[in-house]
Amino acid sequence: MKAIILSGGRGTRLRPLTYTGAKQLVPVANKPILWYGVEDLVAAGITDIGIIISPETGAEVKAKTGDGERFGAQISYILQEEPAGLAHAVKVAQPFLQDSPFVMYLGDHLVQSDLNAFLDEFKTKHLDALTLLCEVPNPTAFGVAVMDDRGRVLKLVEKPKLPPSNLALVGIYLFDATIHQAIAQIQPSARGELEITDAIQYLIDQDRRVEARKIQGWWLDTGKKDVLLEANRVILDTCLVGEIRGEVDDTSQIIGRVSIGAGSTIKKSTIRVKVAIG
Ligand code: DAU
Repeated sequence: MKAIILSGGRGTRLRPLTYTGAKQLVPVANKPILWYGVEDLVAAGITDIGIIISPETGAEVKAKTGDGERFGAQISYILQEEPAGLAHAVKVAQPFLQDSPFVMYLGDHLVQSDLNAFLDEFKTKHLDALTLLCEVPNPTAFGVAVMDDRGRVLKLVEKPKLPPSNLALVGIYLFDATIHQAIAQIQPSARGELEITDAIQYLIDQDRRVEARKIQGWWLDTGKKDVLLEANRVILDTCLVGEIRGEVDDTSQIIGRVSIGAGSTIKKSTIRVKVAIG
């Protein structure tokens, strides 16, 4: 099993934060958003990872993230010249993916979910695609799925004006190699992108095995700025390990779950719960 993480695109919705950098590198609790995805994949045993990068921010993503050694993974970088859609990114990644089944992970997402159970189901049921879903109050902003009570996907629509359900596609998809044939058949959408939802719909229309599962934990699409603040709060709340690796002088007090990184010095201060200082 391989994985691709999509870290291309222009990040226009996160300006001004992304005028000077990639949105996937914006830190949440002092760690680039992109790295959470890498760590999730490695925790699920997937270490052969391709990161899709753009000409604008690719060098920065590469320099910051490296060859994967720090994660126990092997990272390859795949240049997508234009942000021509999620399915286009898969097309560009095909020489890396070859005929391997793979996870596609959007690089600006944070998901509290253990991928292992989904991977097991995908493999044992020999599915062509498994998508993850989350109930949302604003489905018009997402790809939306209709599924039956056995978990089979009946229909997918990208950013519908009249959503057929409140089940949004979260940015994690599991595919086998048939997705490449589907992508070869689809045309760009009205917004000019090759949509992965259209490729999955093609699989459904061909009676391939396409299923979906609802995630149980939280999901944050940090591509929009308000969600970034919420992401910081949620990550500090659920993932922060209190660890003091820097120096704290005698006049300072650290109260509760606080993480202070190596090289930091705290003087004459009181720091209370849920703070991460790099
Ligand atoms: O947020 C979940 C949604 O993500 C799904 O519900 C939709 O079905 C799916 O199409 C996608 O919609 P977005 O409009 O949010 O996708 P966005 O353009 O923000 O791109 C998601 C990530 O993929 C982001 O990290 C940038 C990267 N990307 C995007 C495009 C269009 C690429 O690497 N290459 C691309 O061509």
